[in-house]
Amino acid sequence: MIFHSRPTLDQNDFDSVLDVLKSGRLAQGEQVAGLEDTLSSYAGVRNGVAVSSGTAALHLSLLALGVGNGDEVIIPSYVCCALLNAVKYVNAVPVIADIDRFTFNIDTSDIKKRITGKTKAIIVPHMFGLPADIDEILSFGIPVVEDCAQSIGAKYRGRYTGSFGVCSIFSFYATKMLATGEGGMILSDDDKLAGILRDLRDYDEKDGYSVRYNYKMTDIQAALGISQLKKLPSFIGRRKKIAGLYNKALNEISFPVPAAFEGREHIYYRYVLLLDNSSGFIENMLKMGIECRRPVFKPLHEYFGLSGYPVTREVMDRAVSIPVYPLLGDEETHKISVGIKEMLLKC
Ligand SMILES: Cc1ncc(COP(=O)(O)O)c(C=O)c1O
Repeated sequence: MIFHSRPTLDQNDFDSVLDVLKSGRLAQGEQVAGLEDTLSSYAGVRNGVAVSSGTAALHLSLLALGVGNGDEVIIPSYVCCALLNAVKYVNAVPVIADIDRFTFNIDTSDIKKRITGKTKAIIVPHMFGLPADIDEILSFGIPVVEDCAQSIGAKYRGRYTGSFGVCSIFSFYATKMLATGEGGMILSDDDKLAGILRDLRDYDEKDGYSVRYNYKMTDIQAALGISQLKKLPSFIGRRKKIAGLYNKALNEISFPVPAAFEGREHIYYRYVLLLDNSSGFIENMLKMGIECRRPVFKPLHEYFGLSGYPVTREVMDRAVSIPVYPLLGDEETHKISVGIKEMLLKC
C-alpha cells in the first residue's frame, strides 16, 4: 500500500534523538533554543518561540496580540479545525471567509467584505504549500498571523512565508514538511511580542501570577526538528520533482494541474486535484493500493450551519490529495502517475 503521507526519517534523525536521550536532559533546553535559532535564521525573522503544537502556536499568538472577548478574527472555511479552536480558546468570534478556487487560499475579496471595527486579526494559512496573496491581505491594515503549518520553505516574491505577518506559526506534526511528532513554532520580528510568547508558554518560576500554559517543546523533539530542517531543501526538491512528474502525466491527458503563480513558490505539501467524481477516484485508487484523501475533513462554516461559501463547498466536494512526500521512490511515483491517468480516463 502506498500511504497518503509519511514522515521522512533517516539515521541522522535517529542519532540526534538518541544523543538527547543519552544526555539525560530531555525537557526544553539547548536543543529547543537551537531549533528556534535555526528556523528563525532560515526564514529571516528575528525571534523564534518553540511550542508543543501548531495549535498552541495559534493560541499564544492570539493571546500575545491581545485578542480577547468579543474581538473578531477572520479565518478561512477550508482549513483544519485548529484555527477555529484557537479563536474560541481566547473567547473571540470566528469570522469565516470563503476561499479562492484556484489557490485554495483565503479569498482576499471576501476578507475585505468581512472586516469590521471589531476585527483584531486575520489568520492566513498558505494552503497545501502555495503562498496566499499576502501583500494584498497586509494592505488591509489588520494584524496578520501567517499560518505556515503547510508552507515551511515556500517563498512569496522571493521571501520565505512566515516573514510577512506580525507573527507566523508553524506545525511539526508527524506528516508535516518537518516532523517532530508533535510540535510548533512562532516567528516574529517583534521582540516585545516574542517576550510575551516566551512568558506564556512556560508557567514555572514566575514572580507574579497570571494565567500561563505548559506549551513547551522537549529537547527530544527539537533535536529531531534540527536534523529534519537540515534536509528541508532536499525535501522540497523531491516534492517538486514528484509534482512535476504528476503534472507531466496529467498534461498528457490535458487534465488541469494544480495552479502555479508568478512570484509564489509552491512546495507541494499537498498535491491537490479537483475532480468531478472524487469519491469514485479515491475508492478506485485504493483498490490499486494507492491511498488518496480529502485534504480537509470538514469546512468550518458547516460546523455552524452557515451558508454562502460556494467555493469552499465545491472544493470540499471535488478536492483529492494525491500522495506526495520525499520518501516516495521513483517506482511508486510512476505507479501513482499511471494510476491517476487510468482513473481519470475511467471516472
Ligand atoms: C493550516 C494548519 N494550521 C494549523 C494546524 C495545527 O497544527 P497542529 O496539528 O500541530 O496543532 C494544522 C494542522 O494540521 C494546519 O494544517
